[in-house]
Amino acid sequence: MQKIVILDFGSQTTQLIGRCVRELNTFCEILPYDKFPHGDPDVIGVILSGSPLSVYSEGAFHPDLSGILGKYPVLGICYGAQYLSWSGGGKVEPVGTREYGRAHLDVTDKACPLFEGFEPASQVWMSHGDTITAIPAGWHRTASTESVKYAAFACDSAPAWGVQFHPEVYHSLQGKLLLRNFVVGICGSRGEWTPEYFVDATVAQLRNQLGNDKVVLGLSGGVDSTVAAVLLHRAIGDRLNCIFVNHGLLRLNEFEDVMRDYRELGLNVIGVDASDLFFKDLEGVTEPERKRKTIGADFIKVFDAEASKLKDVKWLAQGTIYPDRIESRNITGKVIKSHHNVGGLPEGMKQKLCEPLQWLFKDEVRGVGRQLGIPEHLVGRHPFPGPGLAVRIIGDVTRDKVRMLQEADAVFIGALRESGFYDKVWQAGVILLQDRSVGVMGDERSYEHAVALRAVTSRDAMTADWADLPYSLLQRVSNEIINKVKGVNRVCYDISSKPPATIEWE
Ligand code: XMP
Repeated sequence: MQKIVILDFGSQTTQLIGRCVRELNTFCEILPYDKFPHGDPDVIGVILSGSPLSVYSEGAFHPDLSGILGKYPVLGICYGAQYLSWSGGGKVEPVGTREYGRAHLDVTDKACPLFEGFEPASQVWMSHGDTITAIPAGWHRTASTESVKYAAFACDSAPAWGVQFHPEVYHSLQGKLLLRNFVVGICGSRGEWTPEYFVDATVAQLRNQLGNDKVVLGLSGGVDSTVAAVLLHRAIGDRLNCIFVNHGLLRLNEFEDVMRDYRELGLNVIGVDASDLFFKDLEGVTEPERKRKTIGADFIKVFDAEASKLKDVKWLAQGTIYPDRIESRNITGKVIKSHHNVGGLPEGMKQKLCEPLQWLFKDEVRGVGRQLGIPEHLVGRHPFPGPGLAVRIIGDVTRDKVRMLQEADAVFIGALRESGFYDKVWQAGVILLQDRSVGVMGDERSYEHAVALRAVTSRDAMTADWADLPYSLLQRVSNEIINKVKGVNRVCYDISSKPPATIEWE
């Protein structure tokens, strides 16, 4: 399978580059900047990502490009472009103030294949603190903007290009065309990477890998584990055993509803209600990461106990997807939240690990789910955190707080579904705040909890914006929650974007 390699220098938008390439039905791999797979015959092109660093600063990433340049088509984006220039003998200097936001391209080399089909003054998005003040000898400028002389440039003797702007972001209006020109036009992608291809190839590969072995998989009700299960079921049938642990922190009636869905999909699934254990261990736990660790440890305990009742199981399957893996090993090394698909496995695990979705982005998982015939209400579900409502309750977790949150969540999600907004937002939910506030209900003073509604738009959960929901919808949800949910007397709407906030409050 042809692939594009994206060398990651640590930019926030590296994943977006990957997703754009995949949208062109082309497989790509995001690898650390110094881990180029020399000798891999499938590589058809290389993209160098942006970075929070400056090329000239101490500790900046300076990989050896000699085995890459001239051998494969190369596209450098932002830092990638600056590095191409700087390492070839050009000059990169601080701008003074960061250049951030929209600019308009003046394509100076009309023959440049990257800009084929570009409109005049096409809007591009800049985000950089350095600028290229001289390009190396043997390179030429292909475009500039109002304030950036070398907005794009090309090598005269090798298939290499640099662009100072970010074609991968939404606000670069013809950015996708630029990436198509590179991936399809220049690198010659045949567009082989489709859901149909993935299903056929993965089913064949799973049959080969698993033989007659038995596999156990933890279902969570979410899209990823459901798609992983159905894919495995297609490959090995009832040799796949699924376990769905109810930690008591799911949404209203979710355990029962999802168990029914799984059975209808023909999956061989055991449901375990372990909520007593989770509530007991969560008693008095308020710190978010401790909540996650407690839930993770209990989950493993319950799952292990159930799995060990099954005989001769050689494999543990997980619905880990590509962003889980990339987020877990950010090259800048900072952990913001511990997402527990990765790195949370029991020590001394006896089974081998099988992760059939490990190369897919979320929307690819949905595409594969549809290809497998999984009903839309399962494939289109919003993401939901593994630790469930526990990370939507600020402070300690009690059954009564979970009850309040489940009821409020059901009102909000129900209204989003009815109004058609459910599918327009990436994710939505309700957060129960710790503080109480005074209200008046009838003639009585009330002193009860406040909840915050959270609904965001996003493409990959890496960045997100609060959803612009109509006031009338918010009003309806607020009334219904306050009227119906005992213990809640105030409703707020969270209008924070990510960054700097995150999607969940904990
Ligand atoms: P944040 O809050 O980091 O969330 O902006 C990004 C996405 O990840 C989900 N999330 C989690 N998923 N375990 C999970 O399985 C977790 O501990 C966890 N924390 C956040 C969140 O719902 C959103 O989709």
